[in-house]
Amino acid sequence: MQDNIKISEFSRETLDLVNRIINRYPKGREKSALLPLLHIAQSENNGWLSPEMMDYVASLLKIESIEVYEVASFYSMFNLKPVGNCVIEVCQTGPCWLRGAENILAHFEAKLGIKPGETTQDGKFTLKTVECLAACGNGPVIQVGKEYHENLTTNKADELLEKWKRENKISHTNPYL
Ligand code: FES
Repeated sequence: MQDNIKISEFSRETLDLVNRIINRYPKGREKSALLPLLHIAQSENNGWLSPEMMDYVASLLKIESIEVYEVASFYSMFNLKPVGNCVIEVCQTGPCWLRGAENILAHFEAKLGIKPGETTQDGKFTLKTVECLAACGNGPVIQVGKEYHENLTTNKADELLEKWKRENKISHTNPYL
């Protein structure tokens, strides 16, 4: 697993992007840019939001750190502890469950030797369970970074795992670049 790289500030390129996003909102409403900034911060911090990174986001938006912690800890797409390079999020809500999500989760657990919330020893994969990913008609569904994989079968899951291993898949890419 990669260690958290302590970033005290974004690169010039990322700051330009951040400023463009903040400027979409009226003066005094900069806090509205919090979710996009958290996505960017997470992608620049090996896929998770450290307290230092959340404090930095708070400073960019001129809000209190607690306001950032509240939002980051509410949404499952934000990770508050270090994760592997490739985070596999398995939908466990009713419609996916009815279509076999339980088997898919058990399959990933067996293949990777980890439970939800854990990371493989080599730091390549983290497994998570999440609530509805809004693709209910095509369950079982998993999300890996920007990718959705729908109508998943255990065979398809195996193919994906092999591909991600070959590619050294990194799921925390900046969604705004
Ligand atoms: Fe799985 Fe909605 S229930 S995507």
